[in-house]
Amino acid sequence: MERLVEVEQISFEEDKSEVNLRPSSWDDYIGQEKIKKNLKVFIEASKKREEALDHILFYGPPGLGKTTLSYLISSEMNSNIKITAGPMIEKSGDLAAILTNLEEGDILFIDEIHRLSPAVEEILYPAMEDYRLDIIIGSGPAAQTVKIDLPRFTLIGATTRAGMLSNPLRERFGMHFRMQFYDHEELAKIIQKASLKLNKTCEDDAALEISRRSRGTPRVALRLLRRVRDFAEVENEDTIIKQRCKYALDELGVNDSGFDEMDINLLELLVSNKGKPMGLSTIAAALSEDEGTIEDAIEPYLLANGFIERTARGRVASVKTYEMFRLNYPQSEEKITEGSLF
Ligand SMILES: Nc1ncnc2c1ncn2[C@@H]1O[C@H](COP(=O)(O)OP(=O)(O)OP(=O)(O)O)[C@@H](O)[C@H]1O
Ligand SMILES: [Mg+2]
Repeated sequence: MERLVEVEQISFEEDKSEVNLRPSSWDDYIGQEKIKKNLKVFIEASKKREEALDHILFYGPPGLGKTTLSYLISSEMNSNIKITAGPMIEKSGDLAAILTNLEEGDILFIDEIHRLSPAVEEILYPAMEDYRLDIIIGSGPAAQTVKIDLPRFTLIGATTRAGMLSNPLRERFGMHFRMQFYDHEELAKIIQKASLKLNKTCEDDAALEISRRSRGTPRVALRLLRRVRDFAEVENEDTIIKQRCKYALDELGVNDSGFDEMDINLLELLVSNKGKPMGLSTIAAALSEDEGTIEDAIEPYLLANGFIERTARGRVASVKTYEMFRLNYPQSEEKITEGSLF
């Protein structure tokens, strides 16, 4: 039988040799209050009924805590969690092997679930709905379907692209949760808790300084914190202070709003179009990025914070963006904005 592979994405900043900053209790998991509240109710109810938790789908931009929440659910349910990802399950047999290896109450976490192939998805339907595996043996008129009962398990799917999930798959999840960007206060709390794990205290205004530049994203906040800590270490400082944060973040070229190079490139491109909307494919070609990355990883934060707008004809930079670049907002003759599609 195939072994489940751990595909936890560990970038070099989140190297295993470094202190693990992933929260291990609900109290350490800051923000996403609505999701937490709902999950707690569902978890308690399913424990009372002694049933497996219904299947859960988390969607939203990268780094907002989908994987972390899944671990928390498994510890709360006292169940094992098996981790895999859409692209790693190539054949339907791979998924069948994973499913038959599960035990009653186990959690199967499939990251990037939108990348499952249609053939693999087909296997998932009866498994999710009836805890059953339908295996077709042979082909043509002689083909037979063998049904195998599966233990009652919980599937947690995570995706940055809910729109790419097929309807039948989406509908089989009992709960759908959209992850939200974090506000500055929430990020500051995350930073302060994490810095204690790194053996540093972090002053309030220092934590806020980092959070302002973190794109509403805990993963970014923690990465910046680690870099600031390096600067503090070199200065022999046990406390992280605002001045050091400012210095370090400026040195690292982190913009005041936390924009990275890709954000700036996208905004500059839109501004250079002088208020005329630009289509996604044109943007992708101009930035040499694929459309998916732009839609899932770059745009959501800019949209949520009003730096860009989506119109029927494409994307435009907002007044706020022109102000940021200290440019005049183009006047209406050259501007063709239309009612937002979303
Ligand atoms: N609410 C939170 N409170 C504290 N820390 C958090 C929170 N959410 C995320 N983190 C931290 O941020 C990092 C990224 O979170 P996580 O890996 O769960 O994101 P993700 O949504 O699964 O991202 P991806 O889509 O890239 O897989 C983790 O190291 C985790 O420690
Ligand atoms: Mg993840």
